[in-house]
Amino acid sequence: MITRRHFLGTGLAAGAFTLGGGRGHASPAAGELGLTAEPAVARLVGGKWPDTRVWSYNRSIPGPEIRVRQGETLRVIARNGLEQPTTVHWHGVRLPIAMDGVPGVTQDPIEPGDVFRYEFEAGGAGTLWYHPHFNSSEQVGRGLSGVLVVEEAEPIRVDRDVTWVLDDWLLRETAQIDDSFGHRGQMSHGGRIGNTVTVNGRIPETFAVRAGERIRLRLANVSNARTFGLDLGAFEPKIIALDGQPVAPFAPDGGKVTVAAAQRVDLVLDMAGRPGERVTVTDGYYRNRAYEFVEFVYSGERPLRDSPLDAPVALPRNPVPEPVPDGDALRRTVVLQGGAMGAFPDGADRFIEDNQFWFLNGLPDKGRDGPLFTVERGRTCVVTMRNETRWEHPMHLHGFSFRVLSRNGRPNMRSEWRDTVLVHPEESVEVAFVADNPGDWMFHCHVLEHQMAGMMGIVRVA
Ligand code: C2O
Ligand code: CU
Repeated sequence: MITRRHFLGTGLAAGAFTLGGGRGHASPAAGELGLTAEPAVARLVGGKWPDTRVWSYNRSIPGPEIRVRQGETLRVIARNGLEQPTTVHWHGVRLPIAMDGVPGVTQDPIEPGDVFRYEFEAGGAGTLWYHPHFNSSEQVGRGLSGVLVVEEAEPIRVDRDVTWVLDDWLLRETAQIDDSFGHRGQMSHGGRIGNTVTVNGRIPETFAVRAGERIRLRLANVSNARTFGLDLGAFEPKIIALDGQPVAPFAPDGGKVTVAAAQRVDLVLDMAGRPGERVTVTDGYYRNRAYEFVEFVYSGERPLRDSPLDAPVALPRNPVPEPVPDGDALRRTVVLQGGAMGAFPDGADRFIEDNQFWFLNGLPDKGRDGPLFTVERGRTCVVTMRNETRWEHPMHLHGFSFRVLSRNGRPNMRSEWRDTVLVHPEESVEVAFVADNPGDWMFHCHVLEHQMAGMMGIVRVA
């Protein structure tokens, strides 16, 4: 069990680390941005522990935060400095299929020493991210990921715009990454849940704030499998965007903010405490495994203002076509099957031998010849995901944001766009999107061990 001061359950104290301070932003406005996947070392744990050998973008954990303005063109020269192929996938970006970064589907893998140029227009504003789509469990698990922020033309008024890249690492007592990638137990159960949680590449200790300030907090969960459930109740958080898409601002139940693997949540927090106050934020997502996540520490400065900033927090809508889930829509069901303690479809044995433990509509990724289904360009597509497994699955569709219409037949009262939706055990989730972007788009679980163990397919828009 981890806490912010302990890792590996060894009771060894890790170094204190204060969040905040300036981190370098990579703004490619000056031209092209180079992004090199390469080995590096990172000070994840701190204290007397050694640096951790990682795989990184530009020798930074997390990778550089890329910032562009909405409507700008992003040009990235991706170099492969690893000893195995890689690609870069731009998670949540509605881009042309050739830029989607899926090896063998949208491009050839980038071989060691090679380069691939990604170029696309940042159409919608929001908090997005990037990561490899080759050997994903290991490449992301060793540290390859970063945030892409597409800034609104007119951002909302806040005092600070802060990004927290939430990550989860499985470390040994030497603070080195455990090599057990591809372990059957991880793949067939809940994925590679680690023992060390980091924010922006360090075990978080404190987060320095000032009374009266308003913070826009962008949470991005880049971990392989872990879901976070942060109790931010003390700050009366308002959620203003989910997966990079604006939502009518709302206060989550009890101030608890859930971020499943690959999801992003944008929050507005008003620091209503007094100078000198300290507030502990816990993560209690997994039953009986709550831990102290970070401590907010108010500075001694006089409050920035006496009452919360009186400025709107709603973000302008992005240009995403609204699905019309009527009689003309294409309706498809995708059944999630397999995994430990689960029911397997007929003929599963030959796949299980090949470490394919998860199935969509009866087949794992490796057993399927064509797409899960095809939808004509421009048509509304309604997909019901039915989870018949004992595990939760953050299901992600490339290239689109979809509306979450209902859960277990109960309509979603909030109008909510997602690119990754958490489907709980035995739950059915219905989503809809307009298939306006042609291509073969990956549709998969973002627990990367599930993805690699079969829980992936293609949705073809033609
Ligand atoms: Cu972050 Cu295939 O996705
Ligand atoms: Cu899964």
